Amino acid sequence: MQYTVVRMMYYTVFATFLLLGAASAQTSLQLSSCLTKEQNLEMVCKFTPASDPKLQKICYYMTENKLVGSTNTSSPPDSTFKNRATVSIADNICKLYLKGLSDDKPKNYTCFIKQTTTPVPITAVVDKSKLQTCSGWCVMQHSGAALLLTFLTLPLLSELL
Ligand SMILES: *[C@@H]1O[C@H](CO)[C@@H](O)[C@H](O)[C@H]1NC(C)=O
Ligand SMILES: *[C@@H]1O[C@H](CO)[C@@H](O)[C@H](O)[C@H]1NC(C)=O
Repeated sequence: MQYTVVRMMYYTVFATFLLLGAASAQTSLQLSSCLTKEQNLEMVCKFTPASDPKLQKICYYMTENKLVGSTNTSSPPDSTFKNRATVSIADNICKLYLKGLSDDKPKNYTCFIKQTTTPVPITAVVDKSKLQTCSGWCVMQHSGAALLLTFLTLPLLSELL
């Protein structure tokens, strides 16, 4: 019995690493959005880092042809978004945090990642009434649960049989 539990823990850890690996290997841009518990908008734009780590990465968000925010400090945001938006970039994600998201009609938000000369865009519709509450774990559970179950069940079954 004890042995099975240890095995289970081992497989859980193993499957988690596999999932993390699979997630970070994605190549195209991905844009997701959610509503924080303070009712602010959080958008996460995932990208594949250029192979040259020394290349300067710039990320910015636009909506209705207005600059919401940019990691380029020389590009001031549109006056509508002044002091409301924060854009930050890390290894392979660019985050937008926007305060005072209005309830009115849905709007398209576009994330641009500029690693070489041409920025690469990805657009998503943001509708405040349809946004999910932010929670890092939910995303992981939705995409990973089935896979995780498979990984856990197979070795366990073979052990029981
Ligand atoms: C940052 O913004 C300034 C002003 O818009 C622009 O001239 C400059 O090329 C930008 N820098 C990069 C790395 O894109
Ligand atoms: C967002 O962009 C798509 C594609 O360009 C367009 O069909 C749609 O009407 C836009 N939605 C809003 C709310 O502007």
